[in-house]
Amino acid sequence: MTKVKFLKSEFPIFQHYPDLVYLDSAATTQKPRVVIDGIQRFYEMENANIHRGLYDLAAKTTERYELVRCKIADFIGANSAKEIIYTSGTTASINLVARSFVAPQLKAGDEVLISAMEHHANLIPWQMICQQKDAKLSIIPFLEDGSLDLAAFQQMLDSKVKFLAIVHISNTFGTVNPIAEMIRLAHEKDIPVLIDAAQSIANYRLHVKNLDADFLVFSGHKIYGPTGIGVLYGKEEYLQQMQPINFGGDMIRNVTFEATSFADVPQKFEAGTTNIAGVIGLGYAVDFVKTLDQVVLQNHLNSLLQNTTSALKKIEGLQIVGTAKQKSAICSFVLDNVHPHDVATFLATENIAVRAGNHCTQPALETLGTGATTRASFGIYNTLEDVEKLATAVQQIKDFFG
Ligand code: ALA
Repeated sequence: MTKVKFLKSEFPIFQHYPDLVYLDSAATTQKPRVVIDGIQRFYEMENANIHRGLYDLAAKTTERYELVRCKIADFIGANSAKEIIYTSGTTASINLVARSFVAPQLKAGDEVLISAMEHHANLIPWQMICQQKDAKLSIIPFLEDGSLDLAAFQQMLDSKVKFLAIVHISNTFGTVNPIAEMIRLAHEKDIPVLIDAAQSIANYRLHVKNLDADFLVFSGHKIYGPTGIGVLYGKEEYLQQMQPINFGGDMIRNVTFEATSFADVPQKFEAGTTNIAGVIGLGYAVDFVKTLDQVVLQNHLNSLLQNTTSALKKIEGLQIVGTAKQKSAICSFVLDNVHPHDVATFLATENIAVRAGNHCTQPALETLGTGATTRASFGIYNTLEDVEKLATAVQQIKDFFG
């Protein structure tokens, strides 16, 4: 892996804003030069629609678009590119599985299992289909430190449960859930599993076949790629069973006024002109992430997390929210008598970008009883200097508010 300082220089945003301390990578990552240039080159020199034109430019773009699919399949260890569906992001991917795979099988009295730490995208789609089908949405609780209650999870895996959808890394607590073990336990009861890898895809090498994940979803913008593009991985046998939920051009085999037959997977799920530039950009992002040495990357992120945790813990009246043993580089905290929005507003005046609020996990924070938090989340471009600036600024806030 290249040195972190060098990595920072690969992200143009830090040349435009040299003082920016960007601690909001869980919301979206910054983009490296290769991704930005790749998208610009696409629009300048390669732009054409895919799967339609017979001219050279269109053929080349189609080829590049499909090559990215192969690249992603290889990156996450899928059996084939057919198992990779392009979507607009994690949210769209989960909605597709909920509506097209789970809902048609769900009967009154069945259960869908999620955890209490899901962000809204891995909660509301399941809530909606459960309401429609008179099924139950069961919630795996978490412990005080923000780790999942695995004993409760095992007890909940009964014959009523028809599907498990679980986040790999909590965007609020940073907890890393033991997904391999959870998939194994769910499969013992023939329960298919969806892994929400939105927060883990950039920093962990996930191998869907080794994990035996049935579905895995992520967004391009959290892996140093563009917004508006994401991935649904699904085992081919399941994708074959599923009906499309969006209908239109490019997803068909034959259309008459009376009836339509659909294209094969993956195309039957990609109606209309998709986010071609997004796919191209995501391809460059995957190439970029593949160059990062996993050991160096993990050590770096771990050092950022450990240093942040110990620096913040020294501040009187500050509590870290989410202290599980297995944590990624996400640090949520609350400061006595200071609203997280005030903390974030003050930090912004120091050029420190964090997120404050419920992080789209309102029920999780209500369960914990903390309400809103301030969250610092790290990417590969962050340095220990960023951590120091954060800790100094939070101490100043504490001093100011008493
Ligand atoms: N889910 C994203 C976050 O945690 C938007 O900020």
